[in-house]
Amino acid sequence: MGAAIETRDLTRLFGRRTAVDRISMTVPERAFYGFLGPNGAGKTTTLRMLLGLVRPSAGSAVIDGMDVALDRIGAARRVGALLEAHGFYANLTGRENLELTRTLLGVAQTEVDRVLEVVEMDDAAGRRMSDYSLGMRQRLGLARAMLGAPPILVLDEPTNGLDPDGIADMRRFLKALPERTGATVLLSSHLLGEIEQTATHIGIVNEGRLVLEGELSRLKSELAPEIAVRIDDPVKATAVLRGWDLAVEAGQDDGGLTARLRSGDDADRKSAELNRALIDAGLSVFAIGPRARSLEGIYRDVCRPTSNRQPETVR
Ligand SMILES: Nc1ncnc2c1ncn2[C@@H]1O[C@H](COP(=O)(O)OP(=O)(O)OP(=O)(O)O)[C@@H](O)[C@H]1O
Ligand SMILES: [Mg+2]
Repeated sequence: MGAAIETRDLTRLFGRRTAVDRISMTVPERAFYGFLGPNGAGKTTTLRMLLGLVRPSAGSAVIDGMDVALDRIGAARRVGALLEAHGFYANLTGRENLELTRTLLGVAQTEVDRVLEVVEMDDAAGRRMSDYSLGMRQRLGLARAMLGAPPILVLDEPTNGLDPDGIADMRRFLKALPERTGATVLLSSHLLGEIEQTATHIGIVNEGRLVLEGELSRLKSELAPEIAVRIDDPVKATAVLRGWDLAVEAGQDDGGLTARLRSGDDADRKSAELNRALIDAGLSVFAIGPRARSLEGIYRDVCRPTSNRQPETVR
């Protein structure tokens, strides 16, 4: 399977600040790629370089076989995009705004109705954009990205600022995209739960660097599993587990702990051993057992500030 998007050492400096630092990412064809990372990590800058809107300081980006630096227009025509600054005309209706883009792209007139229907905006399309809620604008932005059925969709935080209903609607549209359009989707988001439900692949950027990339299911199964423990004395339990040379984290609630195993550890066996060790230390173990890595756990692991980062020990 070819790559829909491939970058090599893509880099962007703003003044002396490196916003994007030698990112080499691969978005396979027909992937639903979740692009994750903290605020300021460099996601938007990377996406804008892919779209030819920001010039890289170094490195290259290839979209659907076309080098963005060599053929910016050609590459851009392969991509439908939803960006933070949507640039709609407030005094035009939703339909008129789409009609403008449609004419620019030179695609069939029927496209406007088709995309409006996909995002369930047929009814509101006759209203001025100035009367639109943020949710409606985002929907229209998604519709515009789909005009002409481009093979690649680049969506920068399509759920940003939406209320829970708006997020649920957007999730519904996004989930339906791969089947409905057959497009490769590259989407940045802070909603790990949403990405966990929809993405086939993820890339995580931190401080301008791509720190993890791959197929989500593989990452989840290959990264070391965790053991979740509920116990009467978490402080003492933490000491016991650290004595086994494991990274231990407090759970969000109820005195739970999470011990990170090492890749290759037999989680069931380890779980039984740790259970015995905790009991031998005089603790009451309420519950203990292995648990697959969640996307949240994976993310926290690679985006922890470097100062107090606890790298996984590889034996
Ligand atoms: N036009 C610009 N001029 C100067 N600095 C910029 C510019 N655009 C982005 N930056 C800086 O580059 C860094 C990366 O920003 P970017 O917007 O790409 O991050 P992001 O991952 O999209 O963050 P967020 O999750 O908040 O959207 C930040 O430090 C930001 O301040
Ligand atoms: Mg951004």
